[in-house]
Amino acid sequence: MTQTPPIAPQRPLLDPDGQQFVEQLLARMTLDEKIGQMTQPEKNSVKPGDVARLALGSVLSGGGGNPDPNTPEHWREMVLGFRREARQSRLGIPLIYGVDAVHGHNNLHGATIFPHNIGLGAARNPDLVRRIGRATAREVVATGVRWDFAPAVSIPQDIRWGRSYEGYSQNTEVVAELACAYIEGLRGEAWHSRVSVLPSVKHFVADAATTWGSSTRVDRQQLELDRTLAISQVGEQFMQLLDLGAWQSDQGNSEIDEATLRRVHLPPYQAAIEAGAMNVMASYSSWQGLKMHGHRYLLTEVLKGELGFQGFVVSDWEGIQQVHPDFRESVVRSVNAGIDMVMVPFDYEGFISTLREAVEAGDVSAERIDDAARRILSVKYALGLFEDDDEPAVPLDEVGCAEHRELAREAVRQTLVLLKNEGGALPLDPGAELLVAGAAADDVGAQCGGWTISWMGGHGDVTPGTSLLAGLRAAASDPAQVHYAPDGRVDRRYRSALVVIAEEPYAEGMGDRSSLALTEEQRALLTRVRAQAEQMTVLLLSGRPNIVSEELPSWDAFVAAWLPGSEGQGVADVLFGQFPFSGRLEYTWPRSNDDLVAPADPLFRPGDELTTG
Ligand code: GLC
Repeated sequence: MTQTPPIAPQRPLLDPDGQQFVEQLLARMTLDEKIGQMTQPEKNSVKPGDVARLALGSVLSGGGGNPDPNTPEHWREMVLGFRREARQSRLGIPLIYGVDAVHGHNNLHGATIFPHNIGLGAARNPDLVRRIGRATAREVVATGVRWDFAPAVSIPQDIRWGRSYEGYSQNTEVVAELACAYIEGLRGEAWHSRVSVLPSVKHFVADAATTWGSSTRVDRQQLELDRTLAISQVGEQFMQLLDLGAWQSDQGNSEIDEATLRRVHLPPYQAAIEAGAMNVMASYSSWQGLKMHGHRYLLTEVLKGELGFQGFVVSDWEGIQQVHPDFRESVVRSVNAGIDMVMVPFDYEGFISTLREAVEAGDVSAERIDDAARRILSVKYALGLFEDDDEPAVPLDEVGCAEHRELAREAVRQTLVLLKNEGGALPLDPGAELLVAGAAADDVGAQCGGWTISWMGGHGDVTPGTSLLAGLRAAASDPAQVHYAPDGRVDRRYRSALVVIAEEPYAEGMGDRSSLALTEEQRALLTRVRAQAEQMTVLLLSGRPNIVSEELPSWDAFVAAWLPGSEGQGVADVLFGQFPFSGRLEYTWPRSNDDLVAPADPLFRPGDELTTG
């Protein structure tokens, strides 16, 4: 078994006083209260009074788990309701609320939406990521939330995977560096403060190394839409997505050997632990045929033993149910493997009673329960939750504030990767006439992508922001000079044209695609504009490289913009030359669909990017 270079185990999370506090509290807790702390239901499932009655440790919002109306005020009211109810439990143990703030407080309408990780990797700027972490933390804390299921430290090997955009890079060191910067941003001055947010480093481990076709998440024979997939609101188009490859890779099996797992996928966790991370989320995926949620060697012996992780491991959404067909067996195997808190979105009472019975039957030891509860309580203490008065320390008007949007705009500028620029096509002249084509040019939803307001994301004005087109018009000398043709149909020629094409928003396995080729509609748009433009620049909004080899020769310039988020004016800043192109390619860009994984003959390699400043 190849060992990871020895590191000092993570230093104890608490000083002796804190450790004594936790031990004394643990000694007063009943088995049910300890199991309650290990339980995390989704906010729509929790019956009034159950947080106090069951001493629930946490509640979460899944993707799109928003209050109605989806406003900062209603978010704060919802979250504080759960936190205040926890104070009414017998021991008043504080509750921690968790959300996926993976590119800003992205479920919340009006929050600042930052570029997804794939773009931040291109920016390659730890200080920028740290500042984004801090701004995200403040908007999250304003709504009473103190736990963010981020950063993902995925290192995508096969970009057909629908979560590729959650990875910063295909380079392990870059992922580790940026993840630590984000963790430091969420921490702020100190974990023990009222404006720190607990990160979840995810998804442990090698979530991005699954083999295409190995996922069993969707039973193609059954094809019923289970409750989680139904929440994704893609029910009516589910079959088409399956035909395109959905759920072929995500949550599948990784066949890599242990040396590769340790060399490529483990180091970001080691770095995150050294940076003080106190929560890790287990991956749905399997390694060599064994589900990570039931993988005692990796969860306990490696993560908690070898790497010395002192925090707690949370399962993914219904993740333990994939360990074994029998629920009780799943509970026993996953808790014994090292899962400390279980994200059981729906039947939380069933989980509690099943685990209680398993402990009473001796199938899960009391020591394992104590270890899990101790880890959870220690993290809550380290975050200062026991002293917190539940009144958020950040005013609601910081949500989506101008300062954070300016930071997001700065980030957008640094994410843009210039891959072709001939004949002086770029920078565009802000004083000249410009044709902008493609509906994606005026679509904040398309530039935000998945995990935005809803789990899958969507089109149009999904949240307040600035579209690329609006940004271009605001920056042009004369806005009327910026002509917009969503379908590219124009009756005259233009000296300069910008065509914006975008992937359809997606999240997780819904975004798995067997082909990354441009669509017929995109090719037709490009052809129409090419015929009417002397110089044509193409800008791609996508969660991963797309196959553009055939079309690229007819383009004068090509920009990969990834998923920039709400502040599209950052794109205009660079296209008009106010700021240089500085983005770096962190993903190998395949030449064809036949050569997608570690392409032998890629179209672009990291380092092929053109920089202009
Ligand atoms: C999802 C994702 C995970 C997320 C969790 C809660 O299925 O796998 O990244 O944090 O559920 O939304």
